[in-house]
Amino acid sequence: MKNVLVTGGAGFIGSNFIHYLFKQKDFQGNVINLDKLTYAGNLESLEAIDKTYGEKGQGRYLFHRADICDYEAIEAIFRSRRVDTVIHFAAESHVDRSIHGPKDFIHTNIIGTFNLLEIARQQWSNEKIDNALFHHISTDEVYGSLGETGYFYENTPYDPRSPYSAAKASSDHLVKAYYHTYGLPITLSNCSNNYGPYQFPEKLIPLIILNALEGKPLPVYGDGLNVRDWLYVEDHCSAIYAIIRRGRRGETYNIGGESERTNITVVNRICEILEALYPIKKNPIIQKANPDIADYKQLITHVKDRPGHDRRYAIHCGKIKEELNWRPSVSFEDGLRETVRWSLENTRWINHVRSGQYQKWIEKNYQKR
Ligand code: NAD
Ligand code: DAU
Repeated sequence: MKNVLVTGGAGFIGSNFIHYLFKQKDFQGNVINLDKLTYAGNLESLEAIDKTYGEKGQGRYLFHRADICDYEAIEAIFRSRRVDTVIHFAAESHVDRSIHGPKDFIHTNIIGTFNLLEIARQQWSNEKIDNALFHHISTDEVYGSLGETGYFYENTPYDPRSPYSAAKASSDHLVKAYYHTYGLPITLSNCSNNYGPYQFPEKLIPLIILNALEGKPLPVYGDGLNVRDWLYVEDHCSAIYAIIRRGRRGETYNIGGESERTNITVVNRICEILEALYPIKKNPIIQKANPDIADYKQLITHVKDRPGHDRRYAIHCGKIKEELNWRPSVSFEDGLRETVRWSLENTRWINHVRSGQYQKWIEKNYQKR
């Protein structure tokens, strides 16, 4: 791993992964972060990395603003940087957005992945690159929806239900096809719901934390009994690191937190943690706007359900545990408390993302090339 191309490195999991990678003592390579900077990409998540490892620091971290659908731009980066490892996070990632407007999901998740595969195949067959690897980050949502029992295994047939998961499923099939047809060295991981620092506040956990702090309604879809399996983002990063170093080429690994919770349980727990860390009686926004509210839980509001809302996800991650000796290390309770604490301490990041100022900042600092 000399020159690692991380796509979508300015997003939630990608930025956490870059932090994680530079903390690994046995990683001495360079990182090229390739990101289009959509609404979900935020370079402020990587300010400390840029300072230490960027052009003015050790010179091991470089950011390129580019769209993975732009073949020529990606090809030029591949060639000039002699990329030997691709870790492909870039995607449109939010299910609700895919329901309202699927087009970007088809472009980025399918065409963008195809471009990267095709460029990797061409470059790695033209040049002699030792130990090249294309690692594709995917989701448990490709397996569909479970009833009250059972698990998703690596060989569970695909049954995607939303435009997001259908596009991810399509990209997974392309990745596997490039392995079987062209021998492209690939690995693939399908992971459950992540949470933690730097998550865009459209996803359940950061949305609930921030709405609660501002005294806004806490929207729970339908009966709130849909189940997700939660994984602290740093544990996802350690799983990816184990796969790219020791995973068998051509294989898929499921990654999960073994922490199934109903949505209503998650929302209630966030309210309790908030009360412990930032009691509602000391919250000036709520005290000013609505002093009658005595408990964050009073803000919980059941709203119309998501169309085609998958009932339950539960991932079986025995393969990665046995083969690569990986385990989730952060309990849901600890991870959630840490995430709430992070949100209370990182108001600059949050306010910037929420206010829309960030998009203006990007346009000013990163003009399209
Ligand atoms: P995110 O939405 O926070 O970040 C996505 C990043 O990709 C952003 O920085 C965005 O600017 C970039 N991007 C989007 N379109 C692009 C394009 N055309 N070209 C270049 N960059 C582009 O997403 P996330 O939650 O960090 O998810 C990362 C990956 O992990 C995705 O592939 C997602 O499917 C997968 N995943 C996410 C979860 C989860 O719980 N969040 C769980 C399992 C798998
Ligand atoms: O399972 C992995 C997937 O997890 C990833 O592939 C996706 O990129 C990621 O967005 C996530 O998808 P979900 O749809 O599960 O995550 P979301 O945070 O949007 O919703 C989690 C659950 O909470 C889901 O059952 C819907 C519900 N929900 C969500 C929101 C935003 C609510 O009840 N209210 C809300 O406001």
